[in-house]
Amino acid sequence: MSRVERKEPATEAILKNQAVMNQVRSRNDEVVESLGRPLKAHIITYGCQMNEHDSEKLHAMLKNMGYEISPFRDGVDLIIFNTCCVRENAELKVYGNLGQLKKAKRKNPDMVIAVCGCMMQQSHVVDEIKRKYSHVDVVFGTHNLHNFPTLLNESYDQKNILVEVWDHEGEVVEGLEADRKYGLKAFVNVMYGCNNFCTYCIVPYTRGRERSREPQAVIDEVKELVANGAKEITLLGQNVNSYGKTLEEDIDFADLIRRVNTIKGLERIRFMTSHPKDISDRLIDAITECEHVCEHVHLPVQAGSNSLLKRMNRKYTKEHYLTIIDKLKSKMPNVTLSTDMIVGFPGETDEEFAETMELIKKVEYDSAFTFIYSVRKGTPAAEMDNQVDEAVKSERFNVMLSEINRIIKEKNVTMIGQTLEVLVENQSLKSEGVMGRTRGHHTVNLNGDASLIGQLVMVKITEARGHSLVGELI
Ligand code: SAH
Ligand code: SF4
Ligand code: F3S
Repeated sequence: MSRVERKEPATEAILKNQAVMNQVRSRNDEVVESLGRPLKAHIITYGCQMNEHDSEKLHAMLKNMGYEISPFRDGVDLIIFNTCCVRENAELKVYGNLGQLKKAKRKNPDMVIAVCGCMMQQSHVVDEIKRKYSHVDVVFGTHNLHNFPTLLNESYDQKNILVEVWDHEGEVVEGLEADRKYGLKAFVNVMYGCNNFCTYCIVPYTRGRERSREPQAVIDEVKELVANGAKEITLLGQNVNSYGKTLEEDIDFADLIRRVNTIKGLERIRFMTSHPKDISDRLIDAITECEHVCEHVHLPVQAGSNSLLKRMNRKYTKEHYLTIIDKLKSKMPNVTLSTDMIVGFPGETDEEFAETMELIKKVEYDSAFTFIYSVRKGTPAAEMDNQVDEAVKSERFNVMLSEINRIIKEKNVTMIGQTLEVLVENQSLKSEGVMGRTRGHHTVNLNGDASLIGQLVMVKITEARGHSLVGELI
């Protein structure tokens, strides 16, 4: 098997895989008995929330097949790398890790090594793995994640690397269980794929075309999560603003969040990612009017110069972007804004970079992810012949980062004295007490013990520490 174009009906595929999971489980129960110890598995996840959530689905499958999930990678019987290829350094880490496993595999030939995720959707990557990392047992892609049990089952009986990557996405697969990392906060996919083809980005090639889940499937999943203790839901998609376009029902993202907002017991709704070209007044109204939707909008701008935005194929101008920002700020005075930025896109001039810096100062983001442009094979920008010198890229990156950090610090200082609602998530990592997040997504460390975890509390902000806040329960 290798790259296949397949569109097996999703429900049939799920049923088949359920049966296979039972089969694998009986086989594993026997192995566990003869070994006298449990079989352990570990997943290493790179990339975005899409991958995080896919790994939660893989965790559920592994548990169903009798594996114990180990928090450590050493000494496990099965290891999965769920890969990302959005930038080169994410890919290099995977190759590095696979290389290191060669020795371990020689020592323990029964260990199963599986590699999946976005990298695998690129044929040159699969070729490289076959050539240089033949100690890998199973390779699969993003579109056939649900078929992992079948592939694993087949791989037990064969020595050679087993590769199955689907070229096309097929229909939306419903009914896959997920073993979620947190009970309190959960990701829920509302759509998959992307149609935007920003010229630098590999995602449309690895995740396929846009397709939305039926609203009822989303609602049912959220209800079940809430019944199991979830307080906060993040609705996920590469571009949630185009939700509904592939559905028969006349529904958009604004309608969907209004429906989710009525679910009893759900405290907070977040969503990502919004594309500036598609954010509508209807959506801004829905965010403003729905009491559970947090006033935080992640609205990646990528660059602040019209010529750059055009070359990136972002389909909006900086003026349009700033108009949206103004609307958001005037409708929700306490809105927090975050973004993704790319520096060093091919042909980026000093003037274009200066325009980007100007936009950053105007918007005053509350948080931002900044990236150095990374050439992605197969994307239009990789073919552009005016690639920016690495030294220039890194200099601009530092300039941008320090400006963004300055703005964030200054904004955080203005929060001292405010009383904010915090959802307590965890014990603090660095200090005594607990940590949580405001509706605006600020991290707050506060006094209190583990009994507060899961509660919404009111907190007075007493201190700003760079990217986080300190507060006291009131
Ligand atoms: N769908 C989301 C984000 C997807 S990828 C959106 O459109 O906003 C997350 C971020 O990675 C992007 O927003 C972009 O800033 C960055 N990114 C994507 N491709 C990149 C590349 N080739 N080099 C550097 N950064 C990149
Ligand atoms: Fe990539 Fe652009 Fe799609 Fe986001 S919208 S995933 S940046 S192509
Ligand atoms: Fe996400 Fe990386 Fe794939 S950002 S969609 S895991 S390429």
